[in-house]
Amino acid sequence: MGVEIKESTVSEEEFEAMKRFVYDYLAASVENEDDGGRMRWYPWHSAEYRYNHILNVVELAAHIAEREGADVDVVRVAALFHDIAKLDADQEVHAEEGARVAREYLASHGDYPRSFVEQVCQCIEDHSYQGPLSDVSLETRCLIEADILDKVGANGTALMLLRMGYEARTHMDAAEMIERVLQRGRDHAQRIESDTAESVAHRRLKRVKWFREWLEEEVSDMDHDRPDR
Ligand SMILES: [Fe+2]
Repeated sequence: MGVEIKESTVSEEEFEAMKRFVYDYLAASVENEDDGGRMRWYPWHSAEYRYNHILNVVELAAHIAEREGADVDVVRVAALFHDIAKLDADQEVHAEEGARVAREYLASHGDYPRSFVEQVCQCIEDHSYQGPLSDVSLETRCLIEADILDKVGANGTALMLLRMGYEARTHMDAAEMIERVLQRGRDHAQRIESDTAESVAHRRLKRVKWFREWLEEEVSDMDHDRPDR
């Protein structure tokens, strides 16, 4: 069986430069924000959180794209830019605005084929589509599935624990709150169509379930061990 080696449209240096651009854009969005305009004290409104999410999505989307036969270059670049406008545009238009920023960047850096730029921008624009994934292109589907997967599992769990701290909850609530992460994760995962993303979701949800069971076992033990009166 012959393996087709496709020459990459985007070099690693170019990709690194794009990463720097995306991080700087996010950091500038936070700096330019009015105080109190958003819930800035929550970690997921920071440039660091958003950038980390973006890198997770890049990795997951590339993994799915490779196995599902999608154009990996298109998917990686779209994933990198997909949430660039998340901190400076309204949620409803952040996808469109992200596509606009990416188009401007790609037009002024390097000499990318027009069809490549179009595909990347289409993916970014469509990534907030809420309908069935059979409606969108294979590349967009890889991006949306990766975006979903980053909410399911360790990242979603860690964010919930952080949120509990901000809400002055104690570890006694942890099992209940992690159960919510699990439920929400299962709901999100229902949209997934590819076998590759499905198996990542399955593994991640299983771990969250284990974590909840672990909390239930050990945290409730503390409760039972209260001294008798
Ligand atoms: Fe995202």
